[in-house]
Amino acid sequence: MESSIMQGASILATGSAVPDLCVSNQTLSQIVDTSDDWIVTRTGIKERRLVAKDQSLVDLAALASTRALNKASISPLDIDLIILATSSPSDLFGSASKLQAKISANNAIAFDLTAACSGFVLGIVTATQFIQNGSYKNILVVGADVLSRWTDWSDRSTCILFGDGAGAAILQACPRHENGILGFQLNTDGNKSDQLSIAYQENFAKTSLHEILNMKQGFFQQITMNGKEVYKFAVSKVPASISKCLQSLNISSEQVNWLLLHQANERILNAVADRLSIPSSKLISNLEKYGNTSAASIPLALDEAIKEDKIKFNDLIVISGFGAGLTWGTVIIKWKC
Ligand code: ACO
Repeated sequence: MESSIMQGASILATGSAVPDLCVSNQTLSQIVDTSDDWIVTRTGIKERRLVAKDQSLVDLAALASTRALNKASISPLDIDLIILATSSPSDLFGSASKLQAKISANNAIAFDLTAACSGFVLGIVTATQFIQNGSYKNILVVGADVLSRWTDWSDRSTCILFGDGAGAAILQACPRHENGILGFQLNTDGNKSDQLSIAYQENFAKTSLHEILNMKQGFFQQITMNGKEVYKFAVSKVPASISKCLQSLNISSEQVNWLLLHQANERILNAVADRLSIPSSKLISNLEKYGNTSAASIPLALDEAIKEDKIKFNDLIVISGFGAGLTWGTVIIKWKC
């Protein structure tokens, strides 16, 4: 990969945003039959943030983006492309253009990317292609989700898991020898799409043209998930993807400084690290505070790790996303800030 690229690409800055409303396990246990002890033991989650009535996905995404832009000290007008990874847009036609308008990135092309909890990894890989082939210089990649709007709050097997948030990263072109996005490995298994979905429900069977033309619209259902199957999928496929990616770059697992996985469940994070013989001290984790924020979870955790001064210049970060689709994938980054 390194030899075929025209330009290098690296992450210039990150930003993140979460809503103010904090819901503890204790509060959830007043709504469904669960307990703080069950949730912490099975998932590691202690609390999550939920958007208020008057807050939108675009509000959160814009706040995270503005924070990243300020950190990078670049004008929104210098952004060439915005990729908004989300599965909970405020408009089925997409929310990226609304984000473009909200942050006044008037020169940017903008589109949504839907790949659930793998969305941010796919966004980074997509942005990297545009930079490395010389098309664009500055790209804003945002992972944002408000799955609280799609959660069945009476289903204890899913409602304890999810939270809302947004994270942003600005990728910039750089000389080839300073390239920070070293390689990637991506996968999809559509045969298992029903394991985790927010399915569209037709309102009734259409039998005649008259019925089709007069039909009431259908609706999207709430999140359904086969937790056990998703768990098994994650702990087997994610380490395999990471190993393949490390191998393709001739990097050993000992050389990895940080393992940043989609923040789904503490047990999944530990099992993946174990399978790769990466010590848990190298795991970046913040899911106890936010739960599973879907496409936002990786950039949110990355931004916090940077703020906490964990990540140093030239550190190797293995980033892996997994979730609905089913999709999963890895991108390996050398930190260049
Ligand atoms: N509180 C108390 N009891 C509960 C709860 C709850 N919140 N939820 C389920 N239970 C009960 C079940 O009813 C079951 O009871 P039973 O034995 O009497 O039937 C028991 O607890 C065990 O339930 P399991 O579903 O087997 O629990 P498990 O250990 O598998 O944990 C969990 C469930 C946490 C959901 C786990 O399967 C998991 O984390 N799966 C992966 C989810 C994930 O990673 N998603 C990522 C992708 S998200 C995306 O892409 C948007």
